[in-house]
Amino acid sequence: MTTDYDPIAEEYQRAKQHPWRIHIEAYTLDQLIPALDGQSALDVACGEGHYTRRLRARGAAHVIGVDLSARMIELAQAQEAKRPLGGVEYRIGDGKDLPFEGAFDLAFAAYFLNYAHDRRELQQMCDAVARSLKPGGRFVTVNSSPMLDFGADRSYRQYGFEAKINGGVKEGAPIIWRIFQEDGTFFDIENYFLDKQIHEDAFRAAGFSQVHWRAPRLSPEGEKAFGRDFWKLFLDHPTIAFIECVR
Ligand SMILES: C[S@@+](CC[C@H](N)C(=O)[O-])C[C@H]1O[C@@H](n2cnc3c(N)ncnc32)[C@H](O)[C@@H]1O
Repeated sequence: MTTDYDPIAEEYQRAKQHPWRIHIEAYTLDQLIPALDGQSALDVACGEGHYTRRLRARGAAHVIGVDLSARMIELAQAQEAKRPLGGVEYRIGDGKDLPFEGAFDLAFAAYFLNYAHDRRELQQMCDAVARSLKPGGRFVTVNSSPMLDFGADRSYRQYGFEAKINGGVKEGAPIIWRIFQEDGTFFDIENYFLDKQIHEDAFRAAGFSQVHWRAPRLSPEGEKAFGRDFWKLFLDHPTIAFIECVR
């Protein structure tokens, strides 16, 4: 089991093509991120730069992507070298200890906060993100949902993954995500359970004045391509939660 993405960087990049990532994850994030004309944006835990590039495409003048994994940053830089967007910069770094002070209009993070092992680490993450923002700046994030009912033991295999929690639902319990590829191979990702209240407390303590939890939305194309029934389980019992905060 690993939270070190170096060995699974390519596998993870391939898994970004799963339909739910396009028709729910990316679609919902696009709704939450307005046009960024000329603004500055930070992508924490940027991975291979999937959303870093998207933030640039949405009009941000300058985007910095930060990730702990050197291999992920290498993949992000390789894509920038192949198809340069300009205005995009990638750095290896820890999202708990960001070197920015009031620099960004928008901070973004996809699957970063769920790497906090406990409330102390979550606080460090939220503090670092809040500190990086200008006053009035926004933080948009998607993570494993703290509201997911693991006891119900639902299968998400039809979407290309399964989730289970080790040792019961409690602070810091490891959540194992088994991600299946189209060829039937799979890899596992481990992150950690922290409940909704722990998140709320951390956001407030970091200085965010507004905290909004947003429901996943399905793109019209996704509904048309797969049918509403296919998406019902995901939309009724989402495994991911979107959060929007204002500093
Ligand atoms: C599930 S991937 C998401 C990557 C990207 N945000 C995306 O959605 O494609 C999680 C990423 O978080 C990074 N990560 C985990 N802990 C981190 C930390 N403390 N600081 C920066 N990056 C971190 C991992 O290296 C990995 O690239």
